[in-house]
Amino acid sequence: MSDITTLKTELTTQIEAANDLQSLDDVRVSALGKKGRITALMKTLGTMSPEERQTTGQALNALKDEIAALIKSQEAALKKQALAQRLATETQDITLSTRPQRQGAVHPVSQTMEELVTIFGAMGFKVAQGPDIEDDWHNFTALNFPPGHPAREMQDTFFLPEDPSEEGERAKKLLRTHTSSVQIRHMQNHQPPIKTICFGRTYRSDYDMTHTPMFHQMECLYIDRDVTMAHLKGCLSDFVRAFFKIDDLPVRFRPSFFPFVEPGAEVDIGYVKKPDGGIKLGKAPEGEEQKWMEILGAGMVHPNVLKNCGIDPEAYQGFAFGMGLERATMLKYGIPDLRTFFECDTRWLAHYGFDPLQRPNAATGQ
Ligand code: DAH
Repeated sequence: MSDITTLKTELTTQIEAANDLQSLDDVRVSALGKKGRITALMKTLGTMSPEERQTTGQALNALKDEIAALIKSQEAALKKQALAQRLATETQDITLSTRPQRQGAVHPVSQTMEELVTIFGAMGFKVAQGPDIEDDWHNFTALNFPPGHPAREMQDTFFLPEDPSEEGERAKKLLRTHTSSVQIRHMQNHQPPIKTICFGRTYRSDYDMTHTPMFHQMECLYIDRDVTMAHLKGCLSDFVRAFFKIDDLPVRFRPSFFPFVEPGAEVDIGYVKKPDGGIKLGKAPEGEEQKWMEILGAGMVHPNVLKNCGIDPEAYQGFAFGMGLERATMLKYGIPDLRTFFECDTRWLAHYGFDPLQRPNAATGQ
């Protein structure tokens, strides 16, 4: 019996001294394992007298349970301690800088389109759309370009293979050279009053500092009874002044020719030359020369165009104008080279682009 008491004291001391899980397990094996000391004592029971076996057996079983319980609680204590230690020593380095997050930017042409929607939306215009792939009829004939008229050659057109399912001029497919074709499509499907603007890609075979094979145009169309050139002048002047944010921006109409309008005009805005050779939009101060630059084409819609679209020119008339979006954007934001608009250089976009969360409509509340 005293053996058992001694063993118990010894094992208890060992268990309490075990300061990691591995040494605790070593104690377990040495006590309760196949060749462990308690196991060895159990094996001696067979050699004992029945009375001795009973008392020793009970004592050994009790010892076995006690030791197992002690090991279990020591194990729990060690695990808790290990966790506390890890929590105390391991730290997360929250000072490490995050990966740079790049915010996208709105392309200047998209910005311009949104600004135009805001300005013309406030004047009651709606946005119309038309296809980039047009046909000769919508792009030229319906717009009063006579066959073989030099105006057709004025625009270097990208022609596409003929469409065998169509006939004549409608089979002659091309990439639209201007957004004026959208006027035609809209008037074919709507009766006046018509008050629309449209934006879109346009295509011409051209490439240099100021021309790219694809660029964007905006088209404006207003058809109603009693629409006059005065409406055109008022609308256009308001628009360019709002767009360039210059209240007294000089606007000048110069007679010009476009087959789809009569009379036709080119519209100029005023600027002055700066000493450094640059330009500044606006009215010339006293004593300085007022310079002019062309910004768009406009006119009163030709009666033939109305007829071609099924609108009675005796009852209705109206105005139209068309403007290159890149050029207007370059002027407004001082972007020097047109070609950079389409190079998809994200550094350029980061410099000239606009905050996606600061939209023109939100700014004006319209
Ligand atoms: N379509 C013309 C161009 O691409 C621009 C234009 C001029 C549009 C006069 C018009 C207009 O609506 O009335 O050069």
